[in-house]
Formats: sequence, C-alpha cells, structure tokens
Amino acid sequence: MTVSLHNEFPPGSIEAKDLEHLLHPNTNLGAHQAQGPIVHARAKGVYLWDNNGKQYLEGMAGLWCTAIGYGEEELARVASEQIRKLSFSQLFAGKTHEPSVLLAEKLKAMMPFDAGRVFYGLSGSDANDTQIKLMWYYHNLIGKPEKKKLIAHLGGYHGLTVASGSLTGLPPFHAHFDLPLPGILHAGNPHYYRQAQDGESEDAFTTRLAQSLDDLIVAEGPETVAAFIAEPILGVAGVIVPPRGYYDKIQAVLEKHGVMFIDDEVICGFGRTGNPFGAQTMGIRPDTMTVAKALSSAYLPISAVIIPESMYEPLAAASKDVGIFAHGFTYSGHPVCAAVALRNLELLEERGIFEHAARVGETFQARLAQAGSHPVVGEARGKGLMGAVELVADKETKQPFDAGLGIGPYCMQRAMDHGLIVRGLGDSVAICPPLVITDAQVHELFDKLGKALDETFEYARKGG
Ligand SMILES: Cc1ncc(COP(=O)(O)O)c(C=O)c1O
Repeated sequence: MTVSLHNEFPPGSIEAKDLEHLLHPNTNLGAHQAQGPIVHARAKGVYLWDNNGKQYLEGMAGLWCTAIGYGEEELARVASEQIRKLSFSQLFAGKTHEPSVLLAEKLKAMMPFDAGRVFYGLSGSDANDTQIKLMWYYHNLIGKPEKKKLIAHLGGYHGLTVASGSLTGLPPFHAHFDLPLPGILHAGNPHYYRQAQDGESEDAFTTRLAQSLDDLIVAEGPETVAAFIAEPILGVAGVIVPPRGYYDKIQAVLEKHGVMFIDDEVICGFGRTGNPFGAQTMGIRPDTMTVAKALSSAYLPISAVIIPESMYEPLAAASKDVGIFAHGFTYSGHPVCAAVALRNLELLEERGIFEHAARVGETFQARLAQAGSHPVVGEARGKGLMGAVELVADKETKQPFDAGLGIGPYCMQRAMDHGLIVRGLGDSVAICPPLVITDAQVHELFDKLGKALDETFEYARKGG
C-alpha cells in the first residue's frame, strides 16, 4: 500500500491542515495520520476528481447517498432560490412553510404503507433516535408503559448517536462507548453464506432465525418489546441480502407478539434495490419508516420518520395534557433542505430514474455475479444497484483472510489506483453507484474492480 507520511505534505496544504485539525468520523485515525487524506475537489454526474486532477468513477454514491449524481444544476437553482426567498423557517409552535408541507405530501404519496404523518430530522441517526422516542412515547400513551424494548439485527446499521448507535449491531461501534443502552437487543444476522449451519437450507436457516427471534421475545416478555427495526438489505454489514421468505417469517413472529416493524430505508429507499423502497423488494410490511440519504440525493442534510395516522392520534391527544409534542430540532424541516429534497424526488420521477436504475441494475447484477467467479471472491451478493463481493482466503472452505491483512481496505485502495471508488467493509467490498449510472459505466466499474481483485489475489497469494 502506498504510504505517504504526514511530513510529506507541504506546510499549509489542505492535507497538512487536515492532519492537524480534523477528528475524522469513522476513520482509522492512526492509518489516516500515516497515509494522509484524499482531497475530493469536484464532481459531476457519476465522476469525481481529487485535488491532483485524478478522475474516479463514483462506485459508492458518496456514502450510499448521491442517488441523482453530482452537480445537478436544477437542485442548485432550487437551493439558491429558496435561500433568497426564505432561508430559514421552522415547524415549531404551529409555524410552517411550503417546502416542508409539500415534501410531506409527496413522501406520503410515495410510501408503500398507509402513511399518516411525516417528522423531519437531519440524518439517519437522529431519525432513528426519533423512532425510538416515538415508540416509547406512543406505548406510554396507549397504556402499555412496559412495552419499551427494541430489537435490531446483529450486523444491522442504524446510525451512531447514543440511541441509534445502540440499535446498530456491529461491535466496533459499541467498543469503549458503553453501548448498547439497556433495553436495546440484537437478533440473528440473516447472512446465509456466513451464518447458516453446515448443510442447512435457506428455508431451514430463515425458520431458525425466526424461531430464535420468537424465543428472544418470549424470554424478554412480549409485553416489554415495542418494535423490531431492520434495513431491508443490510448495507454497512456488507450488503447482506436476507434469503427469500425471511421477512415473511419474521413478520409472522412480530405480529403474533404485537411488536411493530420499523423499516430503516436510509440506504434502500428511493430506487436503490430496483423498486422505490426496499420494503417492496424484500416483502416487508412496515409500521413506520425512516428515510434519509437519497431523499435529497445528499445535496443537503435531511431525513424523515413516517408514521401511520393511528400512531399520530395519541400523540395529538397527549398535547392536551403535556402542552406540546415535546420533540424536534431547530432544523426539523429546514426549508432549503426540504425544497431541494422535494425537487430531487420530482426529478427522480420526471426522469424515470427508478425505472432506469431497475433496468441498469440488471446489468449491474449480471456483472456482480460474474465477479463472484473470481478466485478471491467467496460470495457476490446484491439487489438492484447495490452489491458487495466478500473476499476469502479459500473459496471452497469460505476461510476468511487473516484480519491483520486488511484485505478489504487493500482492495479498496487498488480500486482507487484504477480510478474507482468502492468501500472496504471488513472483508467485503461494497458497491453502490449513483442511480443515474449507465450500462457502459457499469461495465467500466466492474472492469476496474476486476483489476483490483486480480491485484488483491496476487497480494494475498504472496502473503500480503
Ligand atoms: C440503514 C442506515 N440507517 C441509518 C444510518 C445513519 O444515517 P446517518 O449517517 O445519516 O446518521 C445509515 C448510515 O449509513 C444507514 O445506512
């Protein structure tokens, strides 16, 4: 791996200042200090350039978010018009404004369930915090104050605030942070390739997971469990696609015990999996939903929690006693973010981008499946325009690489050298391009990835 030392950057350069001033989120701080940053300078469509003028094909839609691609003039126009017209307004205490209202109307019309009300946040994390608070508040109001626990997948990712970070079921996000909070539990990871027992069929695997969820709820007491939260396809875990029929079995358990289903569509929402929502691709019947990322194609930060009217009614009734619905943020429904998100959703529809993504997703999945035959790839998996390859030391036995080899980050680095941005997640390499990617660009992406896989195979063969 190329290692540029801290002192190689000229004093006063952005790289040197980065190393001096920033605490980077989700970064190996030691490796970063040794290697230095990559400075993104500009981007257009599905391409991005660093400050040395090197071009990259954006194979990760930023952080799974730049659905419409970079540099969309129409969104720049809408943002600048909204800033000139009404740069800030609020939704507290009965104030409102057009962009937030129209976006809520639009979102409700798009929902794959009977949506009643829309609450705005700024990130997937704070939206999932809101989900937890709403579950607690709602169950208190309907006379079930015991019903407070939440269950999430081991391997699931739901954000990194204190509460959403507790829902997240990946150990590095808990270590030394004193997480998860009590009352937040984790159920089996639905990754058949890694988690199935020897000789277990997909059907037997999903039945076993549903049974263990049932056992967990019974052991905790169904009267204490409020909700189960899941990503239809688990993104940060390495694009884990639960086997066919999995959610049917899970939902039967939840319904039996009166446990609600929070559908976290922060990555899967808005065309990513070949349908408008991951719920449709994976057969989920949500009670409530979280959306973020592609909601604004990441032009501005905005997220939303969508709940049914039946959940809103007790909240409204409680305001009579409490005085207000006492939850919200200064920037809940920020008018510039809402105006941009609304126009983004309109553009996705007007330009047929969901249909385009579904069609190009077939090319993407065909090339992904081909990558699965590479000698360093144990499993290639995905849906629509998201996927991952899991790198293994031995294809037959599924033997993983020695963790010290840093195989995922190595492959990611090789891809960068070839002008492709992908994301190393443990031993997996995730791919999630903007939805506007063309067939030709999908081929370019997998050709570049193929070179990175060849080099990774060579590196591993030589022992790293
Ligand atoms: C499924 C899911 N939920 C929630 C989040 C948290 O979103 P944010 O990083 O905007 O807080 C993410 C982020 O990647 C996510 O993938």
